[in-house]
Amino acid sequence: MKKVQLLSIIILLILLIVGCEESPTLPILNSKIKSGEEITFFIATDPHHLSKETYDFGKAFDWFLNSGDGKLLHYTDEILDAFIMEIEERKPDILIIPGDLTCNGERESHMEMAEKLESIKKLGVQVFVIPGNHDIQNPWARHYFGDEMIKIDSISKEEFEKIYESFGYKDAITRDKYSLSYLAAPSEDVWLLMLDTSKYRRNNVRTAPEMGGEIPDKSFDWIRECSNLAKENNAQIIAVMHHSLMDHNEVVNEDFTIENSKEVIDLLLSCDINIALSGHIHLQDIKFLQKDDKSIYDIATSCLVAYPNQYGVLKYNPNKGFDYFTRKVDVYAWVWEKNIDDKNLNNFRKYSKDFFRQRTYDKYYDSLLEMSKFSDEEMKAISETVAELNLKFFAGYRNNLVHEVLDSEGFKILQNSAPFIVRNYVMSMFDDQKTDNNKIFVPIKVD
Ligand SMILES: [Fe+2]
Repeated sequence: MKKVQLLSIIILLILLIVGCEESPTLPILNSKIKSGEEITFFIATDPHHLSKETYDFGKAFDWFLNSGDGKLLHYTDEILDAFIMEIEERKPDILIIPGDLTCNGERESHMEMAEKLESIKKLGVQVFVIPGNHDIQNPWARHYFGDEMIKIDSISKEEFEKIYESFGYKDAITRDKYSLSYLAAPSEDVWLLMLDTSKYRRNNVRTAPEMGGEIPDKSFDWIRECSNLAKENNAQIIAVMHHSLMDHNEVVNEDFTIENSKEVIDLLLSCDINIALSGHIHLQDIKFLQKDDKSIYDIATSCLVAYPNQYGVLKYNPNKGFDYFTRKVDVYAWVWEKNIDDKNLNNFRKYSKDFFRQRTYDKYYDSLLEMSKFSDEEMKAISETVAELNLKFFAGYRNNLVHEVLDSEGFKILQNSAPFIVRNYVMSMFDDQKTDNNKIFVPIKVD
C-alpha cells in the first residue's frame, strides 16, 4: 500500500514537473496604457549623477571636474531637479534612462538617483532603467575632499537590481538569466526590451571600469523568446541599450559600439525590431541600416548633464508611427521657480556651453601637444576649431550645418595636413548619414 502511495506521489510529481516545463507560466499582462492609445516616452541618458555628499570644492574635485569631458558633475542635482519639474509639467507616460545613472557608481549617488526616480514615479510616470558602464563595481568611485581623492565602494550587480527594483526589474515580464536585461510591457502596443550591454563582471579586479559593451551570445535565445511573446500579444518592441548598436562615427567608435554589433543587428532584424535607443557616446546621433526588406534605427540621445543638456522625446501614434525629437532641459525655469541665486545657473545655457567648449579645447590641445607635430599657435587654432565644431556635433548637427568653421584658421591647417586622427575626426563631421540628428519619424510597420 505504502509502495503504491509512494509511486502515485512520484508519478504525480513527474507529471507536475513535465507539465510545468511544457507550458511555462505566461506572465499576467497588465499594461497601464491600453491598445490604441498615444504614448509619450522621454529618454534621458547618461545623467551621471554625483551626490554632493561625495565632494567639496577643494583641489581634488576641481582637478576631477576640469579634466572631464564637459559633464556638469557639480550641477547634476540641479539639472535632474529641473528635469523633474519639466516632467511634472509635460506629463510623459514613460521615462527611459539607458544607463550611466551615476558618475562612477558611488553608492550615495545611486541612492539619491533612486529617490529622484521615485519622485518621478509618484507623478504617474512609468520609469525604466538599465545599468551603464559607470554604474556597477566601478573602481573609479571616489570621495573628493580637500586635496584628496579617497577610493570608496561602488555597488554590486545585485545591489543595482535592488536599488532600482521599482524601475523595471520588479514588474518585468521576463528577465534574462545572464545579465540585467529584462522585458517590460508599459503599454499593450509597445514593449521595451531593456538590454544590459555593460561588462562589469571583472571590474572588481580592474583599475578602470570596462568601457566597451556586448550582448552575451547566451542571451540571444531569451531575446528571441521576448520577440515571440510580443508577437503573440500583438505588441511592437523597442530595444533600449547603453552602448551603441551601430557606429555613430567612423573614427570614434571603439568601446562605444557593442563588440558583437553585427550579430546583434541581425538578431534584432530577425525579431522585426526596428528602433534601438542608446546613450553612452554622449553624442546626439541617428544611424540607419537596411538589410533586404528589414531596417533598423539606432537613436543615440546625448548626455543629459552636458551641453546642450537635452533629452529625447518619442511620441507613438498607433496609426502613424514613432516621432522622435529632442528638447533642452529648461534649467532656467527651475532656477526662477526656486528663486535660486547662483551665477552659473542664472546663466545656465551660456555656462554649460562655455564649460563644454573649454573641456574640448583642453582635451585637443593636450593631445596635439603629445603629438608634437604643430607649433603652439597652430595647436591653439586647431583646438579652437574642434571645440567650436564639437558644440554643434555633439548637439546633433553635421554636414552643411557645421560649415561655418570652414573659414577658421584651425580648419585650414587641418585641411592642409596629412591624415591623422584629429583631422579624420573633423572631416567625418562633413560627410555623415544625417544632417540634423535631432529628429526622425519612423512609420508604423505594415505587415
Ligand atoms: Fe557610458
